Parts: sequence; structure tokens; C-alpha cells
Amino acid sequence: MSSSSVERNVAAWTKANGEYTDGSASGAWAREEHSWGVFDVPESSIGCLGEVAGLDVVELGCGTAYVSAWLARRGARPVGVDPTPAQLETARRMMRETGIEFPLVQAPGESVPLPDASFDLAVSEYGACLWADPYRWVPEAARLLRPGGRLIFLTNSNIVMLTMPPVGKVTEQLQRPLFGLFESEWPGELGVEYHLPHGEWIRHLRASGFEVEALHELQAPDDAESHGYYDYVGADWARKWPTEEIWVARKA
Ligand SMILES: C[S@@+](CC[C@H](N)C(=O)[O-])C[C@H]1O[C@@H](n2cnc3c(N)ncnc32)[C@H](O)[C@@H]1O
Repeated sequence: MSSSSVERNVAAWTKANGEYTDGSASGAWAREEHSWGVFDVPESSIGCLGEVAGLDVVELGCGTAYVSAWLARRGARPVGVDPTPAQLETARRMMRETGIEFPLVQAPGESVPLPDASFDLAVSEYGACLWADPYRWVPEAARLLRPGGRLIFLTNSNIVMLTMPPVGKVTEQLQRPLFGLFESEWPGELGVEYHLPHGEWIRHLRASGFEVEALHELQAPDDAESHGYYDYVGADWARKWPTEEIWVARKA
């Protein structure tokens, strides 16, 4: 992690908060069922979270914290971690509006000021898993988890990363090599993203003390429509190739 990548990502998410995430938080916090990704794939069709009641959960890159809110409503004890003050302020507003309360910590996923072995589940939905250096945040997740604890994260699929041009929407042609995939910056003020090839994810997760249990490649549902804000990928494309992937790993 360079400190400037954290600063640039905080700036990008302060802007996104004003443009979209603050306004969309009420709807996201009100969802009865958790759904994953741009095309709202229902958790019931994936089943990766399982029973969460009674679990201590840390959400790394919680943003407006609607995933943590959903987990809290199901009896988990979440703690939301995010480095962007504006995102955490939206989460606090939603807590006041809904009465659903849990702790929030302002920090990047690469360096979390919480004790070792204090969580049963670490979750990241387009959070640290995308915006933080994986060689820093994955060991942090391992440190925070108790033995047997799970790490579940959703990020862009490899195929999105390979077919996305520097400007515009995802294509059906390869735009960049797979080998060497790591830090990506897009033109404009979109921040710094981190992605790895699948083989490197598996090697790195195992080296950090995890066993990989599942990799879910998300397909847009038949009735999915293209998203108004996250319009870099259309629903037709996403019915043929995965827009996102969910990794499930367990700390040995
Ligand atoms: C797509 S949002 C989070 C997702 C959350 N589920 C939501 O939509 O509210 C991405 C979040 O990652 C956060 N982020 C940026 N850099 C980060 C870092 N180094 N570690 C952890 N989170 C980071 C941003 O502040 C932003 O709130």
C-alpha cells in the first residue's frame, strides 16, 4: 500500500458518496434479503453467508454499512471498518434513522486497530478486497479472525478486469494481460483498484493461513436490468459472463 493509494481512494469514495451512495443508503439498509453485486443476486441463491446469529463480524471497507446492518438484523455483532469519513457519516445517519446500532472504525483494511482473533467472520463487499492492497489486507483479515473463522469477499470478476477498456464499458475482447494483474487505475478520479489472477488469489490466501472453500461466479438473474449508476456492464453481458466473484475461505 502506498499511503497515496489510500488517500486517492478516500477522495474517490468521498466523491461517490456525494454522487450516489449517500442517496442509495436508505434503500440498501431496508433490504429484507441480502443480495450480491451490481445485479442483486440473492444470497438465498448462493448461500455463502449461512447462519450468522451470534457471530462477531468485521466488515472491511463497509462503506455505508448496509451489509453490516443486514447481518445485525440477523443477530450478528458487526463492526464496520472504512477509511472514508463521508461513508461512515452516512452509516451513522442510517443508524439514527433505523435504530440499528453497531461500532464503526475509521481505518483502511491494510491496518485495522482491532485485536487479534476477535472475529468469527470477516466480510468485504467491494470494500477492502478491491480498494486495499491484498498483500496487506488479507493478512490483516487472518489476524483478526479466530481459528476456523471465515473470510467472504465479493470483487470484480477476472473476466471483467480483462475485458474492460481504459474508458467505456466492458467488451467481449481481451483488453489487457492476465499475468501481472495487480494494481489498476482508471482515467479520471476513480481511485486505485487491486485484483489478482485466480491462481495467485489461491496461493496468497493459503500462504496467509486460509483454506479456500468456494469461488462463486455471479450470473445476472433472467429479469435483471442494467444498473443506473454502475453502468460499466450491461445485464445482457452479465448473463453470459460473471461481473463479480465471491471467495469463501476459512482460517485454518
Ligand atoms: C463499494 S464501497 C463499499 C461497499 C459497501 N458494501 C457499500 O456499498 O456501502 C467501497 C468502500 O471501500 C472503501 N475503501 C477505500 N479504500 C479502502 C481501503 N484501503 N481499505 C478498506 N476500505 C477501503 C471506501 O471508502 C468505500 O466506502
